[in-house]
Amino acid sequence: MERTYWKPANMLNPAPAALICSMDEDGRRNIMTAAWAGTVCSDPVMISVSIRPERYSYGIIKRTEEFVLSLTNRKLAYATDLCGVRSGRDLDKFAHLGLTEAPSRTIRTPGIAESPVNLECRVRQMIPLGTHTMFLAEVTGVNVDSALLDERGRLQLDRADLLSYVHGEYFTLGEKVGKFGYSVRKRKDRHRDRTEKPQKDTKNGSSRRGGGGA
Ligand SMILES: Cc1cc2nc3c(=O)[nH]c(=O)nc-3n(C[C@H](O)[C@H](O)[C@H](O)COP(=O)(O)O)c2cc1C
Repeated sequence: MERTYWKPANMLNPAPAALICSMDEDGRRNIMTAAWAGTVCSDPVMISVSIRPERYSYGIIKRTEEFVLSLTNRKLAYATDLCGVRSGRDLDKFAHLGLTEAPSRTIRTPGIAESPVNLECRVRQMIPLGTHTMFLAEVTGVNVDSALLDERGRLQLDRADLLSYVHGEYFTLGEKVGKFGYSVRKRKDRHRDRTEKPQKDTKNGSSRRGGGGA
């Protein structure tokens, strides 16, 4: 198969199209968009976000050592783009976009009520890398849109219409093509997957609440 070779480029796709909420010492809230974000540890639950020092959010998060990482969906696509091209230095993005605060339980900074999932985060380390500084943060609380829970309280994230960022464009997710561990599951179960009948959670980590582990 013929391959084309390029010099280094940020090509890890899809990336999340997430929103970082911050709040300064005077209670002024801000939101910025972040695609350079990821899960980095399961226990303690930790994530990373990489932020350029020139962002208004950077100084706030550096001082307060906390932020909320909010997942986005199709309805938040416009807000996601706007929060990534306007600065909180000269615009109250919460008010401008008519977004509602979702109070946090473990930190001062609120999340976004319109977001499917808000991750309350405490900064544990800052690592300057070059253009960006990586904030390693522990997730100290999670709040989810209750409309995404089924009758047994399990999270149905496939209903959230989540947004991702791929090479400069926003996309929602496509069709489901498998499930954690389906490649090694017994043939009978695989057949069940194909026929879309409801299944019990399996023991090896595919619980709806915890998500597929890594
Ligand atoms: C899709 C998208 C992803 C972005 N990802 C990042 C990122 O990961 N890190 C970063 O520093 N800036 C990122 N930006 C740029 C900031 O969101 C943008 O500069 C924003 O205006 C900063 O807001 P603030 O000055 O209010 O903090 C992204 C912008 C967009 C549109």
